[in-house]
Amino acid sequence: MMLTGDLFGESPDSKPQQLCLAEGALILCGFVREIDNLLLSEIETIVLKAPFRHMITPGGYRMSVAMSNCGSVGWVSDRRGYRYAACDPDSGRPWPTMPALFLDIAKRAAAGAGFENFVPDACLINLYEPGTRLSLHQDKNEHDAGAPIVSVSLGLPAIFLFGGAKRNIRPQRYPLEHGDVVVWGGPARFNFHGILPIAEGSQPLLGSRRINLTFRKAL
Ligand code: SIN
Ligand code: FE2
Repeated sequence: MMLTGDLFGESPDSKPQQLCLAEGALILCGFVREIDNLLLSEIETIVLKAPFRHMITPGGYRMSVAMSNCGSVGWVSDRRGYRYAACDPDSGRPWPTMPALFLDIAKRAAAGAGFENFVPDACLINLYEPGTRLSLHQDKNEHDAGAPIVSVSLGLPAIFLFGGAKRNIRPQRYPLEHGDVVVWGGPARFNFHGILPIAEGSQPLLGSRRINLTFRKAL
């Protein structure tokens, strides 16, 4: 893919800062890179209480992405379907509280993409290992269609697929790096998206893993 300067808002040192994917969809390049350590230590605390697990799709398949959640509700999948639930089905306890740092990042990233006053109540935490993929899907289990999705990438790079509101619109491929944040909402809120299989590699902070946080207003 060719990326040309006019696609970006340029910073003084002329590093690309933002990439527009569609109306309402933006990559904020390196938005959380400087606080990666703080984010990782919050994630570690959360997954001590609510460990990563491979959920089962309604069709009976084990998802290759391992997941956990924090917030007042968490996204869950099992034979009964996809939904948000207040308790971790593995422990029966409420999901860990969303850290103030997460709320702040999500709010600032959303505002940076033009969505003011975003207050997420759910954060899905995805763990990818080399070979793990997330097939093309829409995020449509949330009640508030006015709120965007804010998606934080940490660790190994990934290729993000971003298409249109219909599955038959061929998705474009965008590289996501450690520290990048993608925001999609408004006219792009229900666009299909996914992650190609993660390539082998090692990243200084996370080793051979990719962790993605997606912030949602679920209720
Ligand atoms: C998602 O679609 O929920 C996650 C996307 C990603 O891992 O970047
Ligand atoms: Fe998604």
